[in-house]
Amino acid sequence: MKKIEISTSAIVFNDVSELSSEDKMLMDKAVEARKKAYAPYSKFNVGAALLLENNQIVLGNNQENAAYPSGMCAERVAVWMAGATFPGIKIIKLAISASSSISKVDKPIGPCGACRQSLSEYEIKQKQPFEVLFMGEVGEIVKTESLLSLLPFSFDSSYL
Ligand code: THU
Repeated sequence: MKKIEISTSAIVFNDVSELSSEDKMLMDKAVEARKKAYAPYSKFNVGAALLLENNQIVLGNNQENAAYPSGMCAERVAVWMAGATFPGIKIIKLAISASSSISKVDKPIGPCGACRQSLSEYEIKQKQPFEVLFMGEVGEIVKTESLLSLLPFSFDSSYL
């Protein structure tokens, strides 16, 4: 038997004014996407913006459904849009912003587990990490250097 330690690291910025101009630009795009989310049931709006290596920006937002599980998260809408529109083009970074019409979201909202798994497929496929930045509506921003740093013990095609 052995015990292993899994650790990860992230940079936490106090607010968007501390971001680089590129990170700020991408987060602005995530906010733009968030404002167009279709979330009439949860009232929780999420926007995602992907910067690709060809400098294209691909947006996604959550799309809910009266049959709740038939809805989809912002991150998966964005990454599948990127895969459908720009197949084979690498992702450089992902920015995520979340807000709610019920209460102010003032802490960073990370991608859900299912989105982490979906996103991991693309990081593994491109053999190059992409940065992930996430925040609420205001306040701190968390930045990780890769998607897989958010998903220890992930499942991948090597197990198949
Ligand atoms: N949601 C996302 O868009 N991304 C996440 O990573 C977590 C949750 C959406 C799904 C649903 O429309 C709403 O937020 C509340 O769960």
